[in-house]
Amino acid sequence: MKPEMTVRFAGLELVSPVIAASGTFGYGIEFEEIVALDRIGAFVTKGISREPMAGNPAPRMVPTAAGMLNAIGLQNMGVEAFVATKLPALARYPSCKVIVNVFGTQVQDYVAVVERLNDAPGIAAYELNVSCPNVHEGGMTFGADPSALEYLVARVRTVARRPVIVKLSPNVTSIAQMAAIAERAGADALSLVNTFLALSIDTETRKPRLANITGGLSGPGIKPIAVRMVWEAAQAVSIPILGMGGITTAEDAVEFLLAGATAVQVGTASYADPRAVERLGTQLERWCRSHHVAQVSSLTGAMQRPA
Ligand SMILES: Cc1cc2nc3c(=O)[nH]c(=O)nc-3n(C[C@H](O)[C@H](O)[C@H](O)COP(=O)(O)O)c2cc1C
Repeated sequence: MKPEMTVRFAGLELVSPVIAASGTFGYGIEFEEIVALDRIGAFVTKGISREPMAGNPAPRMVPTAAGMLNAIGLQNMGVEAFVATKLPALARYPSCKVIVNVFGTQVQDYVAVVERLNDAPGIAAYELNVSCPNVHEGGMTFGADPSALEYLVARVRTVARRPVIVKLSPNVTSIAQMAAIAERAGADALSLVNTFLALSIDTETRKPRLANITGGLSGPGIKPIAVRMVWEAAQAVSIPILGMGGITTAEDAVEFLLAGATAVQVGTASYADPRAVERLGTQLERWCRSHHVAQVSSLTGAMQRPA
């Protein structure tokens, strides 16, 4: 029998729990020739700011032993251009939910972007990026400071007319504490993790490999840490969690679900295979069938404790 792959969280209903992660799937519409957008549950846009941003100078990406280091610096077209040029075309794929990743350097930037998006049709939810390690202002400043996080989430929650998903930084001592703060401030769901702050040095030139010096580490190398963080956060909150970090196989996705995630996001894997999100959705369904799991949602938080 075909397993039930639909998942529900924060008032959204997704046809598949496998979602494309922010920054690795453009504005979604660029993938329409490559991916069957109506078969993926949702995607998260590149981080959108109030004004266009040019990002950091190159080099902005380097491969690592088990993933990559990036310091893109939130290059994006800005909210007006996104609403005018990208959003209308996405209406052709109504079953693929559009989650807009929002970024700002100040609280009022986040508020302004959300207010502008409130008036635009075709958006399912907002994902607040409070965790980008590659910009010098904003980003991780909010995600690493409990009172700044609480204030930002509460302010955005007051103006947002759609569910607010808060994307937490893994660059903190206690993810459980930050998760609980975001929930208390009104978050409808959490995404975790963003990338880990990291550094790679070229031993010949003795220079950092990224022009920004540091960058964010993603890909398979971070997966066990990310799964641990999802598990810790899931015990601290009762709102749903979108888990991510190094997912490349259906089994990876299942690990995140068992740790407590309701859905998963796939980022770096899309660089090696632009169809990764769709493929993993199909493979997860196959995994459920072969393991006699009738509803994928039954996996959430179903990790068994050691005897
Ligand atoms: C090149 C690149 C750009 C990214 N840009 C964003 C972004 O704009 N906003 C955001 O919240 N996360 C961004 N991320 C983080 C990813 O969405 C994801 O949280 C992280 O990479 C971990 O998942 P992964 O190991 O599957 O890539 C970016 C990641 C990469 C690799």
